[in-house]
Amino acid sequence: MLRLRPLMSLKSPSSPLNYSDRFREKDVVADYDAREYGAGSYSSFIWGLQRPVLEKILADFRRTQSGPVRLLDFACGTGRVIACLEPLVDAAEGVDISDNMVDVARKKCRTAQLKVGDVLSQPELLGKKYEVITSFRFLLNAEPELRSRVLKTLRAVLREPDGLLVVNVHGNSRSLRHPAIVWRRWRERTQNTGAMLNELSPEATNALLRESGFQVVRQLGFGMLPPTLYRTPLRGAAAAADKFFAGENRWSDRSIDLMFVCRPA
Ligand SMILES: C[S@@+](CC[C@H](N)C(=O)[O-])C[C@H]1O[C@@H](n2cnc3c(N)ncnc32)[C@H](O)[C@@H]1O
Repeated sequence: MLRLRPLMSLKSPSSPLNYSDRFREKDVVADYDAREYGAGSYSSFIWGLQRPVLEKILADFRRTQSGPVRLLDFACGTGRVIACLEPLVDAAEGVDISDNMVDVARKKCRTAQLKVGDVLSQPELLGKKYEVITSFRFLLNAEPELRSRVLKTLRAVLREPDGLLVVNVHGNSRSLRHPAIVWRRWRERTQNTGAMLNELSPEATNALLRESGFQVVRQLGFGMLPPTLYRTPLRGAAAAADKFFAGENRWSDRSIDLMFVCRPA
């Protein structure tokens, strides 16, 4: 059965954290794997749709390469993405600012090299060039300046001219998630739970990627229907519809969770 969890909130709303500090505490890390990505969660369902698509993108890319394919997973967190991609590349590296997140990732990865630190102040954490860079569930909630600085840093280490950047934005403002966010923002004025209620439109994400030196070559969407439907007896039908609409199609602008495949501009 699919479980829907509330949008992640902080334990201490009176002391707002910046995004880079959000995932440092052990209980937040445990919550991320056990609840956000626990068995039957909505996020796990969406990842189940995304994973084979991402694996195919990597496999197709690798077939076009004559030399080794090096992957960087930026903000690798607890290793969900890098653990599934490491068998598909010649070398995989993950980097994240939270040592507790990376501790969990180490248990899932077999070959990937995992590093902890801030690539903005410690550029030595990054290799010279990567054929593929991925970054999942980072852009949406990072502060605008952080988004832009990180993307420009990643652009500098992506191989020219044909390297691949795959980023995701898990809160499209043009999706049916939007009304729930408006409602949660209204409630947040009095309840102050510290929930992350950010949204980005496909247009704004495209513009951000363009300004950072990338060209979006594909946009894929996952999850059209409001996640709250998964709490109702309609969840089976919702899951079937979301499976049907998943991927690269003309409805992807309306999907909740977007995946952008980019090349250096
Ligand atoms: C929502 S988690 C996503 C983790 C993983 N990419 C995934 O999709 O499961 C966001 C991650 O971004 C990391 N993060 C936040 N700010 C960062 C920064 N400045 N540099 C590197 N990682 C950062 C957090 O520590 C956290 O692990």
